[in-house]
Amino acid sequence: MPLFEKVLYSTDFSPLAEYALDYVKKLKEAGAKEVIVVHVVDDLSIELPDGADLLREKELFKILPEVDQEYVTSIVERLEAIKQELEKEELSVKLYLKYGNISRQIVKVADKESVKLIVMGAHGKGLLTEIILGSVSTDVIRNANCPVLIVKKMEE
Ligand SMILES: Nc1ncnc2c1ncn2[C@@H]1O[C@H](COP(=O)(O)OP(=O)(O)O)[C@@H](O)[C@H]1O
Ligand SMILES: [Mg+2]
Repeated sequence: MPLFEKVLYSTDFSPLAEYALDYVKKLKEAGAKEVIVVHVVDDLSIELPDGADLLREKELFKILPEVDQEYVTSIVERLEAIKQELEKEELSVKLYLKYGNISRQIVKVADKESVKLIVMGAHGKGLLTEIILGSVSTDVIRNANCPVLIVKKMEE
């Protein structure tokens, strides 16, 4: 079995995370076949159970206030766009939209799906971009049970 057959790509839709997607595509050369794409929301106006799966537990979506429904719908569209982009590269794709603690949920999905590699940015939407590692990437590196590929900056 190729080393990196199944990889997890985690995104907050920031420019650096989008740039990291190029590496996911290139991992095809290293044997990647399936990509698990993960986004975690932690900023809804109501609390949901930790680890709630917003793509699969449809009744949870229905109890959300309208502002959250619109927000979640826009995120689903962005995830679907990434799915299409990866499918164009002939990679198979599974999407996760989770609610809860961001790094904890990323690691949980990685474990559940037994991925061989996690790909993510060194920073994201946070404002302290001069700090090399964001809190989400720091915590994923600390807690992941597989290698983590951190994309530090965009090529000039
Ligand atoms: N909500 C999220 N869902 C999925 N992945 C995320 C999320 N937030 C951050 N990430 C991933 O973690 C990387 C680092 O982001 P983060 O540690 O949050 O830095 P910052 O503090 O700059 O926001 C991002 O490039 C992205 O790959
Ligand atoms: Mg962040």
